[in-house]
Amino acid sequence: EKDILNGLPLNGKKVMITAGPTYEAIDPVRFIGNHSSGKMGFEIAKAAANLGAEVILISGPTHQTVANNLITVIPVVSAQDMYDTAHKYFKSVDIAIAAAAVADYKPKHVATQKIKKAESTLSLELEKTKDVLASLGQIKEQQFLVGFALETNNELENAKSKLKRKNLDLIVLNSLQDKGAGFKSDTNKVTLIDKNETINTFELKSKTEVAKDILNTIISALDA
Ligand code: CTP
Ligand code: CA
Repeated sequence: EKDILNGLPLNGKKVMITAGPTYEAIDPVRFIGNHSSGKMGFEIAKAAANLGAEVILISGPTHQTVANNLITVIPVVSAQDMYDTAHKYFKSVDIAIAAAAVADYKPKHVATQKIKKAESTLSLELEKTKDVLASLGQIKEQQFLVGFALETNNELENAKSKLKRKNLDLIVLNSLQDKGAGFKSDTNKVTLIDKNETINTFELKSKTEVAKDILNTIISALDA
């Protein structure tokens, strides 16, 4: 197997990827989540393995499956789990790609018993989760760090400011303007922005192909 990997562009590289949604508990039977399918992150994992990388795939709850000797899937549930797991592996990787749709807020208090139906309205107090990607940006050394940006307006400006604020090497702007792009879809339309603010816009294509575009861009940047 080692021989087959020899010569592949990511041979000898370790890649960490976050994928999927996170679930933030409200009580023992309920959570706050989102519609992320995990597909983009899993496609990046498969593409990276096909290029010879050893992959750590940290995934929130999804229906995705993968069977590849080079990919280790580590299932997590909450943003805090994802944060802890990402920090456990980050120091040992060469490339980290945050494709997860991490919840921005979680219930401030998690009820230990199922909340009973009572009044006509119910308020939940929410507090911010930890930003996994931003925290990696703060401790980054040699790692090439990639984030995603999901924007509906002022897309380029918002993505550029996320790139700077989180200390990234590359950001993948997900265009929601186009039908067939985004969360549940099998296709995606992305714009890649590197830290020199070089902008590369791609056509709408399958997430499998988008994953290859992202990895090829990373490989070119590492070679440069
Ligand atoms: N991200 C993360 N941890 C969080 C929130 C976001 O690691 N708690 C990562 C995502 O995986 C993505 C990037 O940060 O790679 C941007 O996520 P996005 O939701 O677009 O941006 P936010 O910084 O959360 O800001 P906002 O949702 O307000 O636009
Ligand atoms: Ca967010």
